[in-house]
Amino acid sequence: MQVVAINGSPRKSGNTSTLIHAVLEGARAAGAETVEAHLHTLDMKGCMGCLACRTKHGVCAQQDALSSFLEQIKTCDALVVGCPIYMYRISGQMKLFVDRVYSLYTPKPGGGYNTAVPPGKRFAMVISQGAPDPQQYQRSVRWLAGMTGSGHGMTEVGRIIHVDSAARPAAKDTALLAEAGEIGRRLVA
Ligand SMILES: Cc1cc2nc3c(=O)[nH]c(=O)nc-3n(C[C@H](O)[C@H](O)[C@H](O)COP(=O)(O)O)c2cc1C
Repeated sequence: MQVVAINGSPRKSGNTSTLIHAVLEGARAAGAETVEAHLHTLDMKGCMGCLACRTKHGVCAQQDALSSFLEQIKTCDALVVGCPIYMYRISGQMKLFVDRVYSLYTPKPGGGYNTAVPPGKRFAMVISQGAPDPQQYQRSVRWLAGMTGSGHGMTEVGRIIHVDSAARPAAKDTALLAEAGEIGRRLVA
């Protein structure tokens, strides 16, 4: 049982990382093996627009430090995607990842997309933001969940929207950390 986490925050000890780590701790407590891609420190590039994935389905021709994680999304049992809100949207690091995930979408006969990701995977998401209203960026959040999770047929088992981060750092929010741990266990159960 493997859980893969994609961390779109540059801050290794920030709110997003703290909450992702709590999710992974819960998953490990339930027996999973976990791996994390910290996008900011990976030697990775964005999509180069070569469209090789339109003929060689499910494989990104851009070979770099992200490549093994894109492969693991196909073989893992569950995926966690975590990201801070930057300028009303996702971080730049996460956008590079989302563009590379295009390689996992396969053409659907008659139009639209299928996925190269096998069915049966679970998915969870972590968002951290400064604004107090958890609904404020829901369009961006829904889009991220769609592109990385539900668009690949994954079943979402939990979502954390950490708000008001300057006043309420995630590391001090024991209730939120407990919820993250519970989501980690649900990824495995
Ligand atoms: C460049 C930048 C842009 C941000 N833009 C927003 C924003 O549009 N809305 C918001 O609510 N918070 C915004 N924030 C605040 C972060 O979302 C917030 O501090 C979050 O907790 C950071 O997550 P981290 O601790 O994982 O880095 C921004 C922060 C930075 C550094």
